[in-house]
Amino acid sequence: MYETINSPFKLGNVTLKNRIIFAPTSMGLKEEEYLEKLGAIARGGTAMIIIGDVPVLKSPFLSLYSRKGFLRYRRITETIHKNGALAAAQLHMSDSQFRSLIKYLPGMITGKIKPDEMRVLLNDTVSGYITGLTDKRIAEITQGFGKAAVLAKDAGFDVIQIHGDRMCGSFSSSIYNQRTDRYGGSAENRARFACEAVAAVRKTLPDMTIDYKLAVRQEDPHYGNAGVLKEELPVFVPLLEQAGVNSFHVTLANHSDLSDTIPPASHPYFHGQGCFLPFCDEVSRLTDLPVCGVGRLCSPDFVEEQLKSGRIQLAAMSRQLIADPEWVKKTSSGAGSRIFTCTGCNRECLGGMQAHKGVHCIRDRIKTANESLCHERKVLP
Ligand SMILES: Cc1cc2nc3c(=O)[nH]c(=O)nc-3n(C[C@H](O)[C@H](O)[C@H](O)COP(=O)(O)O)c2cc1C
Repeated sequence: MYETINSPFKLGNVTLKNRIIFAPTSMGLKEEEYLEKLGAIARGGTAMIIIGDVPVLKSPFLSLYSRKGFLRYRRITETIHKNGALAAAQLHMSDSQFRSLIKYLPGMITGKIKPDEMRVLLNDTVSGYITGLTDKRIAEITQGFGKAAVLAKDAGFDVIQIHGDRMCGSFSSSIYNQRTDRYGGSAENRARFACEAVAAVRKTLPDMTIDYKLAVRQEDPHYGNAGVLKEELPVFVPLLEQAGVNSFHVTLANHSDLSDTIPPASHPYFHGQGCFLPFCDEVSRLTDLPVCGVGRLCSPDFVEEQLKSGRIQLAAMSRQLIADPEWVKKTSSGAGSRIFTCTGCNRECLGGMQAHKGVHCIRDRIKTANESLCHERKVLP
């Protein structure tokens, strides 16, 4: 039962014990609660946990470059390893200027600017920022991917994921990238930044497994503003492969609404199981490298079918593993009917993050309510 889900998989130089990956998920939690959550997901049987948004350069937020930040990442990898999973660092370079962030900070703090409004305001600054970056700054950033990868390895990470959205995605996008030099114009030129970032990691760590989060945007209907148009994939995929990528993690591009890339069950277009898998089909046609699907992957039967048919080689989940960290364990032990299936409500996960309350699940509330009910009635939960 579910033998493909539970079969090991060789990804570059590492072996995953099964095909399930915790997708990059920034949680906005205090350290203890965060480590507890990661530990639970690792114990629940997932093969690899991708830590979202690890900064490529020194940052006012915690980064690999400060002693405090480095030790925090080391605690994260130790927790993940101790509980039986591998750890991947998602190297992330923002495409919002810190200056713009500072400008809008007072409005954010006083609540005059809501988080989704803030995102729109920041998105409006992306094109000017990307188009105006000097060659010198571009080189600092792309080389930064290599430096951060070395630090990530020292902190215990087993795999590097390059965040192909954000700055890589904005350079890739003909909507945001209005440059007229070798980083702009043709699809080949727009792929250059991402390929240099990948090549920098490959050069500093020749044996490291490099996964690339490939952000795809689509027209008709239009979704996503950063990233690579479906029609441009035949240019981007081989170039990224030549630069040193070992696998692709394929999803919808960002910079439209967050609820497009993290779609609720009520989303008008991406509401179904495996909503982004058609993008994986496009990528698989162009490469023999493993492709990881993500996006509303919840039911063990559905996931097994996608893996078994070879449509995808790996399956990543964010909200489903937040809802039930024991998804893999329950699936492999025949207790699949006891899985708490993600309802796709987005209330406490994306909603919690946007309300600065940290990422949780409505399940936590249901459990707490049940427990207190049982306590009142003096019965065991
Ligand atoms: C609370 C939350 C935080 C996320 N943070 C990140 C992140 O840091 N980096 C990233 O690339 N994707 C991030 N994502 C997107 C997920 O990796 C994933 O692509 C998306 O949620 C769709 O998968 P799902 O249906 O399994 O949740 C986040 C998603 C959620 C719900």
